[in-house]
Amino acid sequence: MLNLNNILAIETSCDETAAAIVLSGRYVKSNVISSQIDIHKQYGGVIPELASRNHLQNISCVIDQALTDSQMNFQNIDAIAVTIGPGLVGALLVGLSYAKTLAFTLNKPLLAVNHIEGHICANYLENDKLSPPFMCVVVSGGHTMLVYVRGFGEYEIVGRTRDDAAGEAYDKVARVLGLGYPGGPAIDKLAMQNDMPLIKFPRALPNDLDFSFSGLKSSVINYVQKNELTDDSKKLIADSFQQSVIDVIITKTFRACQKHNCKVITLAGGVASNYALRKTFHERCDELGYELNIPLPIFCTDNAAMIASAAFFNPIASSLNLNAVPNLKLNSTKENNLYETDC
Ligand code: KG4
Ligand code: ZN
Repeated sequence: MLNLNNILAIETSCDETAAAIVLSGRYVKSNVISSQIDIHKQYGGVIPELASRNHLQNISCVIDQALTDSQMNFQNIDAIAVTIGPGLVGALLVGLSYAKTLAFTLNKPLLAVNHIEGHICANYLENDKLSPPFMCVVVSGGHTMLVYVRGFGEYEIVGRTRDDAAGEAYDKVARVLGLGYPGGPAIDKLAMQNDMPLIKFPRALPNDLDFSFSGLKSSVINYVQKNELTDDSKKLIADSFQQSVIDVIITKTFRACQKHNCKVITLAGGVASNYALRKTFHERCDELGYELNIPLPIFCTDNAAMIASAAFFNPIASSLNLNAVPNLKLNSTKENNLYETDC
């Protein structure tokens, strides 16, 4: 039986170089995130090659800082966890190569982690009460899905987006409004300042558990083309767009819960740091008698603490042949060596 209490995790799937040390999958000793947003925002989105190069430059410092902050050293670490996908292949390979090197030189187990599972497991961080089963709303830049978490490492996808992810829709609408990258936090902030009656943008697939945000995005673009953009109209559009996203997410989540007879809801992914989404979920869950868990905003956007938690609750010990899997899917069953690939 592997001792996996103290896990050092590395996350480099997109534009955050992150390392963290987490005890027993829940207690965060350190959580270091070096964001590349300032580098990518001038291009309006993440440039993969630049992301890889910057991970390479930052990774040693980020890991050293995670050890320093935790007041631990490599000898106290039981295993090295790393994100192997989904994500940008060059970016993933930087973290993976570093993790393999550490595992080999320190003679510690290497644990492969699915980034989406990491987002879900962020709900266990700093929270020793939450255990499956629960419904998780995964809303990130690349994914939007409703996942019924049956047990640790056991996932049933009950709804997913047919086109854009929620975060992607935020980023595209923000671009149309001239708000820059990433769009989510900017729309979140603008929407709070609106005091005009909302524009009724569409709510797609009203009778389904799947999502679609591309029609909403097109409606916003059409509206922007036909109306003058002012400071006030930007606030109004941001608020109206956001309300449509929130309505759809809330309606489908409660429908999925009813279908699975589930009274516990959790949120995950970058969009889960959205103020209005968090507030609306709190209000509705109070009203309807549901239990709600939302990670702290810092554990919603990309971080390595969530990767350590996923490695603890669903440990997948891997050999040094482990490879990055850019389009990795969320698997429904626990299986050892699920991610083993020949090199
Ligand atoms: O989970 P995440 O950090 O990275 C992925 O795995 O994709 O999510 C990033 C996404 C971006 O699309 C960003 O615009 C969105 O999360 N986001 C937000 C907020 N903060 C980040 N969306 C809405 N409101 C926010 N406060
Ligand atoms: Zn993510």
